[in-house]
Amino acid sequence: MKALVLAGGSGTRLRPITHTSAKQLVPVANKPVLFYGLESIAAAGIREVGIVVGDTHEEIEGAVGDGGSFGLEVTYLRQRAPLGLAHAVLIARDYLGDDDFVMYLGDNFVVGGIEPLVRRFHDERPAAQIMLTRVGDPRQFGVAELDAAGRVVGLEEKPQVPKSDLALVGVYLFTPEVHEAVSSLKPSWRGELEITDAIQWLLDSGRRVESTVISGYWKDTGNVTDMLEVNRLLLEELDQRLDGSVDDASEIIGRVVVEAGARVSRSRIVGPAIVGAGAVVRDSYIGPFTSVAEDCHVVDSEIEYSILLRRASIHGVRRIEASLIGRDVEVTPAPNTPRAHRLVLGDHSKVQISS
Ligand code: DAU
Repeated sequence: MKALVLAGGSGTRLRPITHTSAKQLVPVANKPVLFYGLESIAAAGIREVGIVVGDTHEEIEGAVGDGGSFGLEVTYLRQRAPLGLAHAVLIARDYLGDDDFVMYLGDNFVVGGIEPLVRRFHDERPAAQIMLTRVGDPRQFGVAELDAAGRVVGLEEKPQVPKSDLALVGVYLFTPEVHEAVSSLKPSWRGELEITDAIQWLLDSGRRVESTVISGYWKDTGNVTDMLEVNRLLLEELDQRLDGSVDDASEIIGRVVVEAGARVSRSRIVGPAIVGAGAVVRDSYIGPFTSVAEDCHVVDSEIEYSILLRRASIHGVRRIEASLIGRDVEVTPAPNTPRAHRLVLGDHSKVQISS
């Protein structure tokens, strides 16, 4: 069995933190979301992985390399434009050969991994096995309709009027039968070859499509509340590890990771929390469920239940909560006169000011 990981796309989607870079590299608990996918593929016993890449291929290839650090053998498959998930299967035809495969969308995160699903697929070998999860706004997803016995009877991509709240999760298992489906597709209303249509084709031609409903699923839909929540879930799993320097005037409480090269001084960190390599935390409080990425500066500040991305700096601010702060962002107090907020905010930023 092989894996096909989709990490293409143009890199210009307007999520709060993926204006300029690959959305598959958005970090949760200081690790790119794509890495969790690759780890769960390896944990399911799969070695050969084709990664579909597009405009952001250099960034993806730089981060994943040859896959050796995940115990994988990675082959990169270049897609000239993001023409759809089924298009990605089409261009991977030669790589996949006649093997069964799991298709994994690189911006999806499945709590608990995929090992049980892969096992079930081996046992039952339906033409397609999909995962579903209940979501608040199904219009942003592929949506499945089930009959009274729980069998999939229909699928629709991003419907205006969804027939259920069961969204397709971005992990699909296929036998080579899917190639016939994919090669008979026409582009959808959004100009993409939809994998949802390929699965519908399998259903219409009488093939078996199995589904499992899961909980514990996340993807970057631009919803900060969800991102903070998945960050919290992952930090819950941390074990204490203090590889960086922590001075005697600091207090570390509970499950806290301070990565090598990070420096904590005269500060209090209450876990679960993680401080990335090269970060500086001085005269500050970092509270539970906070991820501070590499090379951030938190000085004379208080922050809790938040995510700081690489090189963000917070100087003299108390107190920040439930916040997502992007790369290279600087947060400082305004001068006393005039008493005004001074903001330089990128597109799609959201600010709540307490004063
Ligand atoms: O995340 C689950 C949803 O993923 C499903 O519910 C939908 O049925 C499915 O169509 C897909 O919807 P999205 O519109 O959210 O997919 P997105 O364009 O974000 O692409 C998902 C991943 O695949 C992302 O990592 C980029 C990559 N991709 C996407 C396209 C369209 C490619 O590598 N090539 C492509 O052509």
